[in-house]
Amino acid sequence: TEIATQTRAIVEGLKGLEGPLLPILHEIQEEFGYVPQESLPVIADELNLSNAEVHGVVTFYHDYRRQPAGRHVLKLCQAEACQSMGSDAVADRIKRLLGIGFHETTLDGAVTLEPVYCLGLCACAPAAMLDGEVIGSIDENVIDEIVAEVRK
Ligand code: FES
Repeated sequence: TEIATQTRAIVEGLKGLEGPLLPILHEIQEEFGYVPQESLPVIADELNLSNAEVHGVVTFYHDYRRQPAGRHVLKLCQAEACQSMGSDAVADRIKRLLGIGFHETTLDGAVTLEPVYCLGLCACAPAAMLDGEVIGSIDENVIDEIVAEVRK
């Protein structure tokens, strides 16, 4: 299949690295937007690992998505500076409004919610990133704007 062929090409390009598995998974996620189930046996085969080993690594690291992301990806900073400025309350409110938790996508495929650990925007905590754009000083109004935006 297409996915298997592209996966094999990526693995072949990177398998000479020391500790190639994580860079390979990273590249696959860049390529497809997630790590397709179909890629796993190809990686295992190329790296002489068992399917279980590859599967274990993919599920251990939450940064790897197992399903395609939603149309929008909203990352909420959960690192220390943002924590101290109320990022938990922000996350709780957004989760409630969207009806999903971290690492989940709304049923209509509109948005995937993910935690992130420092966006370099600590001076404007709490911070988030929506589709690659950083947003700082998140208060209730900003939350409402974000939720309206991802529902478009
Ligand atoms: Fe959230 Fe740095 S801790 S941006």
